[in-house]
Amino acid sequence: MVKSTRSVAFVILIGVAARAVFAVTDGLLPNGHFEQGPAKSELNGTRVLGPYSIPHWAISGFVEYIESGQKQDDMLLQVPEGERAVRLGNDATIQQQLAVTRHTYYSITFSASRTCAQAERLNVSVTPGPQSGVLPIQTVYTSSGWDSYSWAFKAKHSTVWISIHNPGHEDDPACGPLIDRVAVKTLRSPHHVKTADNMMRNGDFEDGPYIFGDTPWGVLVPPITEDEHSPLPGWMIMSDTKVVKYVDAPHHAVPCGAGAVELVAGRECALVQEVRTVPRRSYKLSFAVGDAATGCQGYLAVEAYAGRATLNVPYESRGTGGYKRAELEFVASDNLTRVVFQSANHYVKSDATLCGPVVDDVRLVPVHAHMHAARRLRR
Ligand SMILES: *[C@@H]1O[C@H](CO)[C@@H](O)[C@H](O)[C@H]1NC(C)=O
Ligand SMILES: *[C@@H]1O[C@H](CO)[C@@H](O)[C@H](O)[C@H]1NC(C)=O
Ligand SMILES: *[C@@H]1O[C@H](CO)[C@@H](O)[C@H](O)[C@H]1NC(C)=O
Repeated sequence: MVKSTRSVAFVILIGVAARAVFAVTDGLLPNGHFEQGPAKSELNGTRVLGPYSIPHWAISGFVEYIESGQKQDDMLLQVPEGERAVRLGNDATIQQQLAVTRHTYYSITFSASRTCAQAERLNVSVTPGPQSGVLPIQTVYTSSGWDSYSWAFKAKHSTVWISIHNPGHEDDPACGPLIDRVAVKTLRSPHHVKTADNMMRNGDFEDGPYIFGDTPWGVLVPPITEDEHSPLPGWMIMSDTKVVKYVDAPHHAVPCGAGAVELVAGRECALVQEVRTVPRRSYKLSFAVGDAATGCQGYLAVEAYAGRATLNVPYESRGTGGYKRAELEFVASDNLTRVVFQSANHYVKSDATLCGPVVDDVRLVPVHAHMHAARRLRR
């Protein structure tokens, strides 16, 4: 009861303070890096007092304004870009209003760093409409502690609020994740990321969430069990709490084009796509397996599944980039075939962060009966 009254009051406050709405372009939101902060009079220590004290943002709950180098207990807080970030305490929210194009798909990318709590999560949402996703952030994939996360939505209205909420309830209100740099990117519709010669959608991973130009660590794609609103159009991420990492050619070795996926969570996470097939017909799945040149060394392996067929693809990595191609022929047993990729194991780099093999250029084509006949003749 108390809670719902508070959120109603918050919605009214937002309505009153109608301000310029930012028409989205790919990249950082206005003050998305929080470099413009509240006036001194609107801070009590680090706590932000007013709902509109941070330019371009609306806040609710216990939000702190953090400067790089600030100490918490004996931990030095670092900020990935610039000098400032916000921290979301228990039940705290930051939000910004955006002018978007109806029926268009967007991805949001932001950087976060967890602090004291273990099982931290963030609820990213868009209203009205509402669409939301709870992103697990307890596993850290970089040595700095800062990771970039992505989430996607389809705009149902031309003006929307995007919110990042910490649903946590820690005893210490100063616990809760730090957030910095919030960006948005228009995505192609998952129905338009297909080429005529490949049954996979976005099989080359050329479509994906925004990656900051100066971040060498890619962007994490959290669990998403329906492909309609995926930051990786066409693909689902099956896991309880783990992610895959979307990596870009400027900062990584990528087998083809501009993007690829690094499987960073062993068998705890699967990259999945469902494809329409004709039962009893033969198909060939082919793909590239490599390493992102981030020092992920050793005997890596990818496990691929297509319907009931499986293939283990070993790849010896020197951690300096490179790839090989693999093929799996199978007979569809259903009118919908699940194509699944997993890392065969957990792998770590010398700095103890998780890593894994890279998958790219996934192709699925029917194998025609006459090709089979030709092959039989050749034998
Ligand atoms: C600032 O925080 C302190 C400690 O929580 C509190 O006692 C004080 O009333 C606050 N001041 C204002 C102006 O909110
Ligand atoms: C996340 O936030 C949205 C919007 O406020 C809400 O509708 C949804 O129930 C929340 N999800 C969880 C799991 O708390
Ligand atoms: C797929 O198969 C199921 C059961 O065999 C059937 O109910 C469904 O209509 C089929 N879907 C299509 C698109 O053919």
